[in-house]
Amino acid sequence: MASKRSDAFSVNERLAALERDGLYRTLKNVRIGGPFATVDGKKALLLCSNDYLGLAEDGRVVRAAAKALKHVSQCSSRLIAGNDPSMMALEGLLAGHRGTEAALVYPTGYMANLGAVSALAGKNSTIFSDELNHASIIDACRLSGARVEVFRHNDIDHLEKLASRTKGSKMVITEGIFSMDGDSADLCRISEVAERHGMMTIVDDAHGDFIFGPKFAGVPALAGVDTDVHISSMSKGLGCFGGYVATSKGIRELLINTSRQFIYTSALPDHLCAAAVATVPIAKKGDLQKRLFANIAQFSGMLKDAGFTLGNSKSQIIPVIVGAERKAMDFSRELLANGVFAQAMRYPTVKKGSARLRVSLTALHGKAHIEAAAGVFAKAGRKTGVI
Ligand SMILES: Cc1ncc(COP(=O)(O)O)c(C=O)c1O
Repeated sequence: MASKRSDAFSVNERLAALERDGLYRTLKNVRIGGPFATVDGKKALLLCSNDYLGLAEDGRVVRAAAKALKHVSQCSSRLIAGNDPSMMALEGLLAGHRGTEAALVYPTGYMANLGAVSALAGKNSTIFSDELNHASIIDACRLSGARVEVFRHNDIDHLEKLASRTKGSKMVITEGIFSMDGDSADLCRISEVAERHGMMTIVDDAHGDFIFGPKFAGVPALAGVDTDVHISSMSKGLGCFGGYVATSKGIRELLINTSRQFIYTSALPDHLCAAAVATVPIAKKGDLQKRLFANIAQFSGMLKDAGFTLGNSKSQIIPVIVGAERKAMDFSRELLANGVFAQAMRYPTVKKGSARLRVSLTALHGKAHIEAAAGVFAKAGRKTGVI
């Protein structure tokens, strides 16, 4: 119950409205371990981790972090005393990985989006943003103060129409692999439109990085396009922590000098940089991606056969579309009761009435896990009226 002083902020009313609309969120106690998690005391197969390659618990990665652990954090921002040499080593590796001149590490991918977009765009520019872009991109666009034009999801004709009637400095921003749908941006066509209209291109490849493309360099590499600014998270395919921007030397300098999310916050702890340095070559070998793609083919085939609606995913993110928010929550609860942990995604993460279970597969899952999970999905789906 909120106090009297918080009445002015309608705390109780807002919580009641969330409850009424099936949008109330609660925290579960989750302890992860390999392909499983213990959720509020119950062991379940984990189908909602972003550790797509299963590297977060890899002995080589954990040992690299432990070896570098001399203090918990540098307790300083990068420009003051936080710029441990491991940061620079990591940035060199990441630039090489994405095929750019330079890279800059941020404490998280969320901050990398806010930091890069708000430093580059301002009130005299226009940002064209895909309607399904992640919340961190939406927040970045708002923070920049730029005019924001939202184009229909992956509708490049719409993007072109909006761009052709806009003057001044322009940028287009999209996810590489969309975080709630698992489909990929049409980067070839976006890049052609950007070329025609002189737009800077920014791709947030948090979910494509280390998974797709030649040498697993991400979705722009897969599409064979040149992107001005790559933004990514190291807490997904890489199984580590932090965010980064890969770009030109000039843009990196501009970010170091003007990006408030870079300047006014403490540096990523150096043991996490050391862990990422050790992990990049492991992630680029390709054996884990092979296993992951076999799992994707097996699980999506089984779910489709069972009658689920899966959208256009081509990736490890498989949206099992439910529609109604409460039904999605019931489905998720029923799965957990039967030993499978997959979370429901609801508004504002996705549009109202398009609630879904966002299944994410990893290289840690084996054939038997996938078969068992598909069986539980079918049973729970029938019980809750999803299929
Ligand atoms: C597309 C996208 N961008 C950025 C982020 C933020 O990354 P991080 O978790 O490192 O802050 C996420 C995380 O969910 C994401 O899905």
